[in-house]
Amino acid sequence: MCHRPASGPASHRFRSSPTAASRSASRFCASCSADLVNSRTRLVAVTAASNVAGSCPDVRTIAAIAHRAGALCYVDGVHATPHLPIDVARLGADFYVTSAYKWSGPHIAACVAASQTWAGLRPQKLVASSDAVPDRFEFGTPSFELLAGVTAAVDHLAALGGSGTSRRQQLISSMTAIRAYEAYLFAELLDGLADIPGIWLCPAEGLRCPTVSFRLDGQSPAHTAEALGRQNICTFAGDYYAVEYFTALGLRADGGAVRASIYHYNTVAEVRRLATAVRALAT
Ligand SMILES: Cc1ncc(COP(=O)(O)O)c(C=O)c1O
Repeated sequence: MCHRPASGPASHRFRSSPTAASRSASRFCASCSADLVNSRTRLVAVTAASNVAGSCPDVRTIAAIAHRAGALCYVDGVHATPHLPIDVARLGADFYVTSAYKWSGPHIAACVAASQTWAGLRPQKLVASSDAVPDRFEFGTPSFELLAGVTAAVDHLAALGGSGTSRRQQLISSMTAIRAYEAYLFAELLDGLADIPGIWLCPAEGLRCPTVSFRLDGQSPAHTAEALGRQNICTFAGDYYAVEYFTALGLRADGGAVRASIYHYNTVAEVRRLATAVRALAT
């Protein structure tokens, strides 16, 4: 059960939704990012999927905007990688970062970039450690046990439903099947939450990973998450480090929201149980 303790005075009346002005302040569109990029821009950083609403910005368009200005594009794939088949080159990402613990692996992260991109960068490092690429970006002694865990996690994912002769093909095939299965579960969940009285769902448009954040009228997100936790339903309450997002919505000081995410081991029965539990809490 992952939740934050309830905060704020008990008498505080929790708004379930942001004001219209703060809603529009939190909207994001790919073409808007063109206004933020100019010839002085060196790096454009963007997430491949929001860890609040699951929405996936149009990374290809944003990377193209960055490249036209002579900048590099750094893509945070931490939330997207567990849910989608990823093709870093197709995204146009110069850097793509992912945390293995989000996709069944251990607590270690990887940043993917072309050798020539790494070759142009010089990190602070001890003289004695290797100056080769990519070794100069690594810790002195690699964490071999974690690296073994990464290989095992990739093998696990590739074996889930993957067809093809190479492990890459199997992985893409598995992740494509996972994407379809999670989309089915997520549609069930959104359907179940849609008409609950007093619920507000963080808005999301277009391509989406199976993550939803919500608030219930009159109760703090921490209270909602705690009540779900007592029913062995694991959600998370707060801002989940999306400080700017919840600040723009005017909801950060008010407890953020409750987040529920689906992974490929979830079932339709679990998703329905969550929606039923939220409905009972709302009424
Ligand atoms: C989109 C996104 N970026 C970055 C992070 C941080 O990753 P880590 O926990 O590996 O530091 C998270 C963690 O939840 C995330 O969702």
